[in-house]
Parts: sequence; C-alpha cells; structure tokens
Amino acid sequence: MNTIDLKDRRGVVTGGAQGIGRAVAERLLRSGASVAIWDRDAALAGRVAGELARLGRVEAVAADVTDWASVEQATAQTRTALGGIDLLVNNAGIAGPNAPLDQYPLADWNQVIAIDLTGVFHCCRAVVPQMKAAGYGRIVNVASIAGKEGNPSASAYSAAKAGVIALTKSLGKELAGLDIAVNCITPAAAKTAIFDQMTQAHIDYMLSKIPRGRFVAVDEIAAMVAWLLSAENSFTTGAVFDLSGGRATY
Ligand SMILES: NC(=O)c1ccc[n+]([C@@H]2O[C@H](COP(=O)([O-])OP(=O)(O)OC[C@H]3O[C@@H](n4cnc5c(N)ncnc54)[C@H](O)[C@@H]3O)[C@@H](O)[C@H]2O)c1
Repeated sequence: MNTIDLKDRRGVVTGGAQGIGRAVAERLLRSGASVAIWDRDAALAGRVAGELARLGRVEAVAADVTDWASVEQATAQTRTALGGIDLLVNNAGIAGPNAPLDQYPLADWNQVIAIDLTGVFHCCRAVVPQMKAAGYGRIVNVASIAGKEGNPSASAYSAAKAGVIALTKSLGKELAGLDIAVNCITPAAAKTAIFDQMTQAHIDYMLSKIPRGRFVAVDEIAAMVAWLLSAENSFTTGAVFDLSGGRATY
C-alpha cells in the first residue's frame, strides 16, 4: 500500500458504513485523516466506527443525504466533533431495481435520483462554504461507468450517475480559483451489498463488459480516492477518473 499523506485532514465519507465507503473510510484513517462516516444506517455506522477506531479518530453520524435538514445537521455535528471538514467523499448510493425504462417504477426513479444525484448536491451545498472560507478542500464524487456508457435496464441509475459527472465538472470550474479540487470516479462493478438490488442477468452483463475479466476490488477504488483527496492532487479538477478495468474508451 502506498503511503498517502492525509495527516490532520478531516474527512466525510457518505454511505461509509459498508462496501466502497467503508474501504475509503479505512484508507483515509490509515493515511492519517480523521473521518466522519455519514450513513442512514446509523446502527451499522456506529458498529463500523467502533471497529475502525483502532486506526484513528472516527465518528459515526446518522444522515440521510436526500434530506437537506439531515445533511445540515450532520455537517454541524461533524464540525463540532472534528473541528472542520477538509475532505468530502460523496459515496452514498443505491442501484435501484433493473427494469426496462417503459416499465420502470415511478417511485424507484424518484428515489434513485434523490439519493444518487440530489444527495451529492445536498452534501456539496452544505460543506463547500467552509471549504471556500478555508481556501482548501478536496471532493470526490462516486459516479459509475453506467453514467458514461448507460447500462440497459438501469435508466435511473445511469441518468443519476451521468448527472453526478456533470455536477462534478460544474462545481470543479466554480471552485477552480481556490485550492479546492472536485473530481469524480467511474468504477465498474464491485461486489458489495449493492448487488442484492440487481438481477443476476444485470450482474452478468456488467462483468461481461469488463476487459479485465473481474470485478474491481473496493480497496482498488479506495486507493484512487485517497490520492484524489491528497494535497498532491493540486491541479486536476472537474475531471472523471476511470476505474472500469478497460471498459471505457474515453
Ligand atoms: N458496487 C458497485 O458495483 C458500484 C459500481 C460503481 C459505482 N458504485 C457506487 O459506489 C457507491 C457505493 O456503493 P456500494 O457498492 O458500496 O453500496 P453499498 O450498498 O454496499 O453501500 C451503500 C451505503 O450507502 C448508504 N446509503 C444509502 N442511501 C443513503 C442515504 N439516503 N443517506 C445516507 N446513506 C445512504 C447505505 O446505508 C450503505 O451503507 C454508490 O454511489 C454506488 O452507486 C458502486
């Protein structure tokens, strides 16, 4: 494991109670940062914070990213606990069900957009003011290869993730005059609990599209995120970092 210097940084990882977010939270702690895990599953976040406490300062914060008031409350709680927020990883997300667009359940469409896209907007809106005031910040948004390529039977997810890519480009340009970097990553499929939301046919489809011939490991994702959150990532902003194992051609 390369050594990434995040010493004395204060980081928020949304959806950090499991899967990719948990791996990112662990990597941040191992890199010297203190971490607030924001998750709507408060019980699991609390358990994970307890397990990771041997690695450094870690707080579990109950937060629903779809709810602006909840995000404001989590921001205030984190500032009090950690003293500020220098790093933000917008990772909370769901896949939603797989169905052709003309049969896609209306309520699921709204929920996928609310968590995967509006949630990113809410967390950036809450945290960016203090990054602006400090003149420093690093944001990584977890998009998906689905946002670049568009996966069939996943219209809400693909659209939400494409929205995250565009939000990243927009916010990156807004903040480019400060030492604040806003980037996103576009992973291929990683075997986490999110697979429980998908059909086996969809999982098989995603694997068949990865030239590496395997799923990406959560630690491989965390490694890229850690560097993107470091001070060394001082020039690139508003950019999309590929983690698709060769699938993406741009
Ligand atoms: N696993 C993959 O194949 C894959 C591929 C590309 C991108 N991604 C993206 O990576 C991110 C993490 O995915 P994962 O595979 O680790 O999923 P996961 O299901 O393992 O974990 C997601 C976490 O987000 C939390 N969460 C969900 N809704 C929330 C809300 N409204 N507010 C706060 N927390 C909420 C859940 O409680 C859970 O702890 C998601 O944005 C996902 O779209 C995943």
